[in-house]
Amino acid sequence: MMDVAAEYVRDVEKIAPCPEVALDVLSMAHAADCSIPKLSEKIEQDPGLTANMLHMANSAYFGHMKKITSVKDIIVRMGVDAVKIISITSASVGLLRSPQAAYALGRGELWRHSFAVAILANIIARNAKARDTSAIYTAGLLHDVGKVILDRPLQVASYSRDENGEQEPLLTVERRLLHTDHAEVGMALLEKWGLPEAVSVPVGLHHDMTQAQSKRLGVKIIYLADQLVHLTEYDAGSPGEFFFDVLAYESMKEELPEVPHFENNMRLIIEEFVDKYQDAVAVFSL
Ligand SMILES: [Fe+2]
Ligand SMILES: [Fe+2]
Repeated sequence: MMDVAAEYVRDVEKIAPCPEVALDVLSMAHAADCSIPKLSEKIEQDPGLTANMLHMANSAYFGHMKKITSVKDIIVRMGVDAVKIISITSASVGLLRSPQAAYALGRGELWRHSFAVAILANIIARNAKARDTSAIYTAGLLHDVGKVILDRPLQVASYSRDENGEQEPLLTVERRLLHTDHAEVGMALLEKWGLPEAVSVPVGLHHDMTQAQSKRLGVKIIYLADQLVHLTEYDAGSPGEFFFDVLAYESMKEELPEVPHFENNMRLIIEEFVDKYQDAVAVFSL
């Protein structure tokens, strides 16, 4: 099946418009020897990306009192990890914001979901004392990126097959019609982009806890965060309205992977997530 996934990402430049600078930023930020001066130089080559980053750095999400006016400012005042998070986020918006008709996702919906998973995964990772939290954040942000690639093929396949709209799990439909799924295609894409395994493997396994690799902390965290975000409802129209389905959580708890320090701190983790997400929602006028 992996060959089929590779096939779908071969001409990806035509389908998923990710500006070259944003792509470079994504892989540079994850290199072990990430050079911050080089990273900021790269970011400044793209005015849209720079503007996005400044917008985000000055938002309530990061809560800075003094205005941040340059990429260097972000680095000096907020530190390397914040720069990574902000540049990775800004680089991903363009890619994830478009509507995905085959998945019944309107404009911005995939982005909002992805951003929520990234924020929650980051908080869970910090509590679990995970080593590479920015890789986990990126994996959260890009976990469903395969949907961007498979949107067209899935539309075409379901039109020509005259689907009868039976309720079938999404991954089953993808595999039946396309012989691959969005997790696999997402992983193939991230590998092609040169992102490290700490990012691509959790993306590839975010619907599958049965593989040997699924024991990795990053994989468990992305799986958990994705499931939990599906249990929360947020109404962007009325800030403060946030609903976490505790009963649904209790009934599925047994099937969720065990992540260190999650259960004991769940209430605090969810609360922090809700706070951060509400602030973040405003940033990219979601
Ligand atoms: Fe998914
Ligand atoms: Fe998801």
